[in-house]
Amino acid sequence: MKFFIDTANLDEIRAAAELGMLDGVTTNPSLIAKIAGDPGNFTYRDFKEHIARICEIVEGPVSAEVTCLDSREMIVEGEELADIHENVVIKCPLTIDGLKAIRHFSDHGIRTNATLVFSPNQALLAAKAGASFVSPFVGRLDDISTEGMALVEQIVHIYDNYGYATEVIVASVRHPQHVVESAMLGADIATIPFSVIRQLVNHPLTDLGLKKFMEDASVMKK
Ligand code: G3P
Repeated sequence: MKFFIDTANLDEIRAAAELGMLDGVTTNPSLIAKIAGDPGNFTYRDFKEHIARICEIVEGPVSAEVTCLDSREMIVEGEELADIHENVVIKCPLTIDGLKAIRHFSDHGIRTNATLVFSPNQALLAAKAGASFVSPFVGRLDDISTEGMALVEQIVHIYDNYGYATEVIVASVRHPQHVVESAMLGADIATIPFSVIRQLVNHPLTDLGLKKFMEDASVMKK
């Protein structure tokens, strides 16, 4: 199973990369807005430079999302983003226009991530359009009292039925249990916020056991 980090924050990306188990990065306009500071001071050029910096830190796919709704505009923007670095993956929304753009990119050897996916049919369409990755948003489904992980189970099952190469990225991860369930279901990837990556490490019995071991180790003469 691959771990991506779901952030545009360079410090968080560096810290996760230092763990030695970071396989990629996902960003979206909201995550970019978080690091952009004052609106108006962060330009589209700054955005592209930021994506380039992320690519320098991580050896793996880096999703950069298009910021327009029309397929022709998505194609122009996506081709520009793809020129930044070979690891850039173009994130397109699961709309009619997004699917057209995904098909175009797929036909031209540019990797894509179909985002804002909330149903198995949307995931099926993403695979048929040739998306490299599909991103079901489990947390946002949980937020409206719908079982987010059930969608992941359906997508994994459907993709297995037909041998689709599209990789499933479990997105909108909110807590460690989402990661456990992603792994149990055989999802290819979980894209995890930095705070949740840290939570994966923690267990109170580890803390308690370590405290006792340190106390007992102190009786030894060095
Ligand atoms: O990768 C998509 C993810 O960033 C959405 O997460 O927490 O905004 O639903 P969230």
